[in-house]
Amino acid sequence: MYKIAVLPGDGIGKEVMDATLDVLDSLSIELEYEFGEAGDECKEKNGKALPQKTIDIVKKTDACLFGAAGETAADVIVRLRREMDLFANLRPIKSYPGTNALFDNLDFIIVRENTEGMYVGNEDWVKDEEGDIIGANAEQIMTKAASERICSYAFEYAKKNARKKVTGVHKANVLKKTDGLFKESFYNIAENYKNEIEAEDYYVDATAMYLLTRPETFDVIVTTNLFGDILSDEGAGLVGGLGLIPSANIGEERALFEPVHGSAPDITGKRLANPTAMILSAIMMLEYLNENKAAEILNKAILKVLSEGKIVTEDLGGNSTTSEMTIAIKNEIDAQQK
Ligand code: NAI
Ligand code: MG
Repeated sequence: MYKIAVLPGDGIGKEVMDATLDVLDSLSIELEYEFGEAGDECKEKNGKALPQKTIDIVKKTDACLFGAAGETAADVIVRLRREMDLFANLRPIKSYPGTNALFDNLDFIIVRENTEGMYVGNEDWVKDEEGDIIGANAEQIMTKAASERICSYAFEYAKKNARKKVTGVHKANVLKKTDGLFKESFYNIAENYKNEIEAEDYYVDATAMYLLTRPETFDVIVTTNLFGDILSDEGAGLVGGLGLIPSANIGEERALFEPVHGSAPDITGKRLANPTAMILSAIMMLEYLNENKAAEILNKAILKVLSEGKIVTEDLGGNSTTSEMTIAIKNEIDAQQK
């Protein structure tokens, strides 16, 4: 029996969470949910987008499912990542059948450092003698500890998942000290895996191009916070959009799983939300909990519904509602579990 913190959030976050709990309930696995409030509505009601009560729920459960927040997203998700030291952000980039993927043969994963780099948020104004703002500075922080931790995570991930190559991405030719340290850390860790896993490194600008010209050559990409943010959205673009991209935020002891998309106010309440990204995030959670059988059943079910392409939401070219697509996935689960 696992205890799962469930934070639906705002807008379609709630809709795709309902759909996901519905499919999880049809698997033969015991999950106990603890619901927590977070996001815009929560802020309106309680004055805070992420109340202490919600943080406490997340900290006493085995894993957390998060839907999406609206305008308060940064207050919620960035804070949760920090509070729980969720240092690795995993974004699988995978082509699914029956979707508008630009490439139909992709299956790689981006491992993004989640705690430092350019996103520490240490910014300052630069002012002239009269006190007028004439510029701004931002600090980039790189530590050996965090760089080696994320690179180790990437190589361990590669080993466990039968991946063959890890690509380190940086800009060490210009940011000689900070990105230089990241590159050095990458090769320090790569050395421990030299007989099993290939290691290569590229500058981020070249990587941005290779992702368009030969994306199928990537396997595991490990990179810093800012570059990981940008490259993973590029990756989402390669495989057909936001309704399909799950993610995991992993720490030493805790983990949080969420779709990459937001609360989508433009389609909220219209029954148009594609539940796939949230359901794929739940599959990543099942794998994290070592519930591999349940993960496989759910994965097969969703693949079947996507590849048939008959009962899918409008963003996938269909005309079914969120709940119709959810029922179709549940029917596939039932067929496998018979
Ligand atoms: P968004 O991801 O909510 O929506 C972008 C576009 O993709 C919209 O046209 C939307 O209808 C469509 N879309 C997204 N998910 C979909 C799904 N599952 N099925 C079908 N269509 C889908 O991003 P946007 O519009 O930039 O932001 C809306 C709100 O969400 C903002 O308040 C933003 O702050 C918040 N946000 C929250 C995030 C989080 O909680 N992690 C992440 C990104 C944005
Ligand atoms: Mg982003």
